[in-house]
Amino acid sequence: MLAIIGGSGLTTLSNLDVSHREVVRTPYGEPSGALVIGQISGQPVMFLPRHGYGHTIPPHMVNYLANIWALHDHGATGVISVASVGAIRADLKPGDIVLPHQIMDYTWGRRSTFFDGGNTPVTHIDFTEPYDMALYTRIAAAAEAAGIEAKRGAVYAATQGPRLETAAEVNRLERDGADVVGMTGMPEAALAREIGLPYAAINVVANHAAGRGSSAQGIHFETLEPVLQEAMGRVRTIIEHLVCSQSRQQPAETAEGC
Ligand code: HPA
Repeated sequence: MLAIIGGSGLTTLSNLDVSHREVVRTPYGEPSGALVIGQISGQPVMFLPRHGYGHTIPPHMVNYLANIWALHDHGATGVISVASVGAIRADLKPGDIVLPHQIMDYTWGRRSTFFDGGNTPVTHIDFTEPYDMALYTRIAAAAEAAGIEAKRGAVYAATQGPRLETAAEVNRLERDGADVVGMTGMPEAALAREIGLPYAAINVVANHAAGRGSSAQGIHFETLEPVLQEAMGRVRTIIEHLVCSQSRQQPAETAEGC
């Protein structure tokens, strides 16, 4: 079953026909909220809002271990992370949808591994390609089929937050090779890899990064909401197409609604 982790701007999946909600406890504590399980176009999909249903959990306080563990334990076979970002690369602007292919991690102090000693042997996952490229390709194909532009390839910088960056920090991120900046991509992606869950991301540009373009004088999140909401509508359509393309690989009777 496909799982969607929704970030800022996507606290519900309005096209999800909900069958039930499950409150999950994990060995790592509580996930951000109950898992919402239902169907999109007749196909099973699971949803979890990363920041909680009231959008009250800041990026550094998200229980990433519990979230990933809960999705895996409840039958997720792949995870799509939806997250808003600031644009560093000059050709990106608010409202753009971007499919990142690489990550740089600037977070600190977050619990970031399932393999932290105890009874588990020392384990070093391969993270050369942090996203599952098969899932990435399916997202890109779904966007294309839906006629929605999704820019392929970006280096995602994960910062600690919850404050936004300084202009100088954004300049440094650019020198490092980052194209977009967000606060939640790590350790989420690494934990998914550790547990063996294919994971890919859809980023929605909410703003120019600090000191750039329309954010030259500052970032005012309140004014970005309409752009984010409109873009999240396009993200929902991409997800619908992806789910339908999956159903077409199965017997016709399960593809009902696509
Ligand atoms: N920086 C970090 N995270 C973000 C931003 C940003 O500019 N925009 C949305 N999430």
